[in-house]
Amino acid sequence: MVDLVLGPLQRFADDTSATVWVETDAPCEVGVLGATARTFCVHGHHYALVEIADLDPTTTYTYEVALDGARVWPPADYDLPAPVIRTRGEGDAVITFGSCRGAAPLEPPWTLERDRDARGLGPDALTAYAHRMIDADARDWPDLLLLLGDQVYADDASPGTRAFIRQRRDTSEPPGEEIANFEEYTHLYRESWSTPLVRWLLSTVPVAMIFDDHDVIDDWNISQRWLDDIRATDWWHERILGGLVSYWIYQHVGNLSPKALTDDDLYQQVRAAHDAGDMLDAFAEAADRDPETARWSFNRRLGDDHLIVVDSRAARVLTEERRDMLDDVEWRWLEDLAAEPCRHLLIGTSLPVLMPHSVHDLERWNQQVVRGAWGRRAARWAEQVRQDYDLEHWPAFPRGFERMIRLVVDAASRSDGPETVTLLSGDIHHGYVSRLHVDADTPVHQVVASPMRQSVDPMLLKAYQVGVGPPGRAVARVLARLAGLGPSAIRWDRVSRTLFDNHVATITADARGVYLRIETAHQTRSHGPAELRRAITQRLA
Ligand SMILES: [Fe+2]
Repeated sequence: MVDLVLGPLQRFADDTSATVWVETDAPCEVGVLGATARTFCVHGHHYALVEIADLDPTTTYTYEVALDGARVWPPADYDLPAPVIRTRGEGDAVITFGSCRGAAPLEPPWTLERDRDARGLGPDALTAYAHRMIDADARDWPDLLLLLGDQVYADDASPGTRAFIRQRRDTSEPPGEEIANFEEYTHLYRESWSTPLVRWLLSTVPVAMIFDDHDVIDDWNISQRWLDDIRATDWWHERILGGLVSYWIYQHVGNLSPKALTDDDLYQQVRAAHDAGDMLDAFAEAADRDPETARWSFNRRLGDDHLIVVDSRAARVLTEERRDMLDDVEWRWLEDLAAEPCRHLLIGTSLPVLMPHSVHDLERWNQQVVRGAWGRRAARWAEQVRQDYDLEHWPAFPRGFERMIRLVVDAASRSDGPETVTLLSGDIHHGYVSRLHVDADTPVHQVVASPMRQSVDPMLLKAYQVGVGPPGRAVARVLARLAGLGPSAIRWDRVSRTLFDNHVATITADARGVYLRIETAHQTRSHGPAELRRAITQRLA
């Protein structure tokens, strides 16, 4: 009998429609709440995204998944609540978000902090969140779970995935125990999203997601030089195809609304193909060569509020003369959407725009030296520094940084603009809130929530604390000045404490404003889910 391999994942829900994604072990017809979809096939794997229409607003539907008419989910012995689809109505938008979730068993030593065991990633904040949700009133559940990058670590697989890779091929050859291709990616996703609580959470809360570097590789697209070097290896081609094709299937298509799916030619062709593997490989190849051929960014309307999620990885322009975080087509798409009327504007980007001030200056300095401010030899050295120290956030793309700041300032300054503007991001393994100084009544904040499950090397943490403090800030300022850069006219302050524990953030946007809660995960028992504790609660407006 045909069975589920992964899922169900609830990907989309608005007032009257929803989508549910599954992976199955054979071709079949997938049924959810009376709607059906045939599986499509990619390199021998089978998937379906079931589009459910004509639902009533503000209604909770308990659902089952049937394959060829036989119920497979929830299984008969399921000990978690049955999955539900909750359609939206008017009212608040509650978004829970986070990033950087390494996969490893949910038991010691992997649940220990890094200073107690080198294998430790600490407790999983997402599992803790799911566990707490089960006993909570469903009215307190979020409308959307937003995963802001590093959903899977292709370059740092878990012990289980590494064992799977060792069985398949000679790991003395590159890329060693990193993910090599599509087949290994399917294993990585299955492992990350199959633990019972997380599988339940993903079946019951609509989830949207965007990649960051580790979904493909550390420092993905940091610079043209990096890209030229990696393209010269004999393993990269298969990795990038596997990375983008699996991303399209496991993460991207579910970000789209039913209407966007209908309008998406590639999605329609994939559904009609006997095996769409070659077709998606060709698409991924083109997307990697020319970012303007693909759009991974997407947006969601949640009542009057507008969430735009920007791809700050694959849409980059890397040639040093034109270096930018987004290409022109992507910028125009983003600027048009950000100008549309809404109550609260939320912009998701895996990489923070407002970095600690010293890192901001260091990234500007580095970029200036790479461009030749200190001569050719220094430029080569600075490129190495850029790659070694991950100097690749928005300030490392000065043109993109300025354009993004202009975009949020314009939105905040428009007379018919939103009541608040909030950037949501992740990546950097510490969480905090910043406020941008804007000459307007509309507040502009950035919330960084990272990691959900990663460890911070204790030595690095010490270096970081010195680096972002007054001495580091002064040194970075001097370096920037020596590279010919004046002080930035753009000002922002950190308005929260800094979190290093694993955490998740929740934004509630309503008629009164925007309220933020960040909760950290703490392993109070040696086994079982961690406990969440409030670490930052703040009204942003
Ligand atoms: Fe990252």
